[in-house]
Amino acid sequence: MVLRSIARNGFERLENGFDWVFSPAWNPLYQLGALGWFFYWIVCVSGIYLYIFFDTGINDAYESLEYITNVQWYAGGVMRSLHRYASDAMVIVVILHLLREYVMDRYRGVRWFAWITGVPLLWFLIACGISGYWMVWDILAQYVATVTTEWLDALPIFGEPIARNFLNEATLGSRFFTLMVFIHIALPLIMLFVMWIHIQRHAQPKVNPPRGLAAGTMAMLLVLSLVYPAVSQAPANLDTVPSTVGIDWFYLPVYPLLDVISGATLWAIVGAATLLLLCLPWLPKGRRHDAAVVDLGNCNGCGRCYNDCPYSAVTMELRTDGLPYARQAVVNPNQCTGCGLCVGACPTATPFRRASALVPGIDLLDFNMRDLRERTLTAAKALSGTDRVMVFGCQAGADLSLLEGPSVAVLPLRCIGMLPPPFIDFMISRHHVDGVLLTGCREGDCHYRLGIKWTEQRLSGLRDPYLRKRVPRERISQAWYGPTQSPPLVQHLEAFRGRLREIGPLPRRKRRVKKTSVQGVDSHG
Ligand code: HEM
Ligand code: SF4
Ligand code: SF4
Repeated sequence: MVLRSIARNGFERLENGFDWVFSPAWNPLYQLGALGWFFYWIVCVSGIYLYIFFDTGINDAYESLEYITNVQWYAGGVMRSLHRYASDAMVIVVILHLLREYVMDRYRGVRWFAWITGVPLLWFLIACGISGYWMVWDILAQYVATVTTEWLDALPIFGEPIARNFLNEATLGSRFFTLMVFIHIALPLIMLFVMWIHIQRHAQPKVNPPRGLAAGTMAMLLVLSLVYPAVSQAPANLDTVPSTVGIDWFYLPVYPLLDVISGATLWAIVGAATLLLLCLPWLPKGRRHDAAVVDLGNCNGCGRCYNDCPYSAVTMELRTDGLPYARQAVVNPNQCTGCGLCVGACPTATPFRRASALVPGIDLLDFNMRDLRERTLTAAKALSGTDRVMVFGCQAGADLSLLEGPSVAVLPLRCIGMLPPPFIDFMISRHHVDGVLLTGCREGDCHYRLGIKWTEQRLSGLRDPYLRKRVPRERISQAWYGPTQSPPLVQHLEAFRGRLREIGPLPRRKRRVKKTSVQGVDSHG
C-alpha cells in the first residue's frame, strides 16, 4: 500500500510535467491504452507490407530482408523500422498502462474484467515479438530460436526435444520455418480478438489517441526510422555459436537469465508472476460500492442512464410493470462500479422535488440523492458573506478539505458526473449560495472515465440533462485538478470568489403567487 501511494505520487508528478508539455488533452499518460491500439495498427500495416516482399525459405528470409532494408530503404526499410519501433513502443505503453491502472486502483471490484483480460495480452505481445525476431534469421534469430526451443523443451509437452531442429541447417526443415511465419501472423490476430474482449465492459472505450498526439507519435517513429533504421545482424550460421548478440531488451529481457537458471526454474518464475497478476484484483479485494438501483415507479424509460454509464452496466429492456412506457432501465450489479453517473443523467433526480419525493428513477442506495439534497442544504445554511460557494468535488481528486471556510462548503461526491445539473440550478436560483464550483479528477483522466466529459457536456447544453439557460454561468466554475494539484485548486477558488464579490448577490425575483400547488415540487427550497 505504501509502495502504491509512492508510485501514485510519482505518476501524478510525471503527469503534471506532461500536462505542461503536451496539454492535458494530448498527455500520452492518459492515452496509454489508446496508444497501445495505435501501435498495434502501425505494426499490422507495416507487417503486411513486409510480408509482400518477404521470402519464407531459410536462406531467402535473410536475403529478402536485406533487399527490403538496403535496396528499398525509402519504403520497405522505413516499413521495417516502423514495424520494429512500433512493436517496442507497444511494450512500453502496455507496461506503463498496467502499472498506471494498478497504482490508480482501477482494477479491483467489478473492474477486474479489464485487468484479467489484460494479463494474456502481455504474453501474446511478448510471443509476437519473439516469433518476429525468429523470422529475420540472423544471429539474433539463431539465439532466439535455440534459447526458446531449449526453454520450451523444459516443459513436458513435446515428445521429442524441438531444440534438435536447430542443431544444423540440414536438420532445420523449411516447413518449420513456414510454421513460424504462420504463428507470427496468427498470434497478432488472436491478440486483436483478446484486445476487443478487453474493452467490452467499457462504453466508448478510448481506442484512438487524439489526432495531434497520433500525428506527433507517427512523426517521431518516422524520424527514428530514417535516422536509425532497423537492420539485421550477421546471418545465422547453425554450425557456429554466436559469441555476442545484440538483444532487444523490450521483448527478450528474460532470455539472458537462461544462462544462469534452468528452463524449468524460469517457467516457475514466469508462471508465478502470471498467477500473482491474475490474483491482484482480489489481493486485497477492493471496497465495493453498492450497485445502482432502479425505481420503476420513477423511471420513464428515457435511456439517459444507459447512454451515460461508463461501464455498460445499464441495459434498456421491455417494460414489466404496466406503466405506459416502452422500456425500463435494468442494472447489472456485476458490472456496476457505483460511480453514480447514471444518477447524474436521470431527469427525475432533481432537488426541486420535495425531499420526501426525491426518489429518482435510478439511485445509489449508499449515496442517495435525498441525503445529498439534505447535506447540501445543511452545509449551505452555515455559510456567510457575499461570496458563498458550494464546492461539489470528486473523492478521487484533490484534497477538498483545504477549500473549506466560513464562505465555502465542500461536498465530496463519488464522481462529479453523479451530480444532476438541477442541483446547481437549485443552489444558485434559490439563493442557497452565490456560486458553485465543480471539481473532480485531473483534466483528461476521470477515475470513472466519463464523469468530467459528461459534466462539461451537460453544462454546455450538449447533453441531457442540460443545465437550464436561466442559471447565470458566471456563478459556476469548473476546475479539474488531481491529488497533487491542491495549490492551483485553492487559487482557482480564490479567484472565483473574487469574481463573485465583484458581481454581488443574485437579484431576488418577485415570487409568483400560485393558486394551486404542484405536488412534489418544492416551493421554498
Ligand atoms: C495490448 C495491450 C493492451 C491494450 C491495447 C489495452 C487497451 C486498453 C484500452 C483501450 C482501455 C480502455 C481505456 C478507456 O477507455 O478508459 C483499457 C482499459 C484497461 N486496461 Fe488495458 N490494454 C492492454 C493491456 C492491458 C494489460 C496488460 C492490463 C493489466 C494487466 C490492462 C489493464 C486495463 C484495465 C484495468 C483497464 C480498465 C480501466 C478502467 O476500468 O477504467 N490492459 N485497456
Ligand atoms: S435515466 Fe432515469 S428515467 Fe431515464 S431510463 Fe434511466 S432510470 Fe429511467
Ligand atoms: S453507478 Fe450507474 S453509471 Fe456507474 S457503473 Fe453503475 S450503472 Fe453505470
